[in-house]
Amino acid sequence: MPSSERLLSPAAVTWPRWIAHRGAGRRAPENTLAAFRHGWQLGYRAFECDVKLAADGEPYLLHDDTLERTTSGQGPAAAADWATLSRLDAGAWCGPGWAGEPPARLAALAAFANAEGLHINLELKPLPGQAELTGLTVAGAVRQLWNTGTPAPWLSSFQFPALAAAAATAPELPRALLLDALTPGWMAQAQALGCQGVVLNHRLIDADTLRSVRAHGLACWVYTVNEAPRADTLWALGVDRIITDTLGP
Ligand code: G3P
Ligand code: MG
Repeated sequence: MPSSERLLSPAAVTWPRWIAHRGAGRRAPENTLAAFRHGWQLGYRAFECDVKLAADGEPYLLHDDTLERTTSGQGPAAAADWATLSRLDAGAWCGPGWAGEPPARLAALAAFANAEGLHINLELKPLPGQAELTGLTVAGAVRQLWNTGTPAPWLSSFQFPALAAAAATAPELPRALLLDALTPGWMAQAQALGCQGVVLNHRLIDADTLRSVRAHGLACWVYTVNEAPRADTLWALGVDRIITDTLGP
């Protein structure tokens, strides 16, 4: 066992090393079931995706706050309920072969994860003003949707209030604080949230940062690494998992 994994829980060390970003990275329309299926065919067994709430509270997968980049819709995602969202095309932007693929409900992803025993990292990606609501709703939904025998999804977020609400709702679900910068107090925040890990922008990683994460008993995942030499460097430094658009598994 690599020394970097000694502090991790047994559940954490069962995770595959490579995590497909948004389903299958750049190889399929992000955050759709088609992407997860494609990623699975490529050999991935661990996946990251972005979860937010439809106007009627339905958790579903979408990265942006607006619809136009990755769907046939227009304008703020906040205005659309699930019935509206479910009729959009979330595949055609990625290529004609993906046309007709709808956005994915969290419930549909859970069914796929349960069927295949997948490891899922749900990034809580709240719409503006919905951090707490998103955290508590998604955590509650995970409790309902994930089978006991399926690996528990890791909940991550850049937003402290989203993770805090998730922790209050379903404290048993593993959590990780996402960081694009090492802001003052970041480690204390991760500890206050009862996190099992942190997910850092890979540009933040150096030996001292990794040592500090380890000293606090946390797993260290990194995003989004798409160059093989950089991944080699990060593995050598001792990161635990890499989220990628293009590398592995
Ligand atoms: O969860 C890691 C990564 O997905 C965070 O950034 O913008 O790709 O969701 P973003
Ligand atoms: Mg993400």
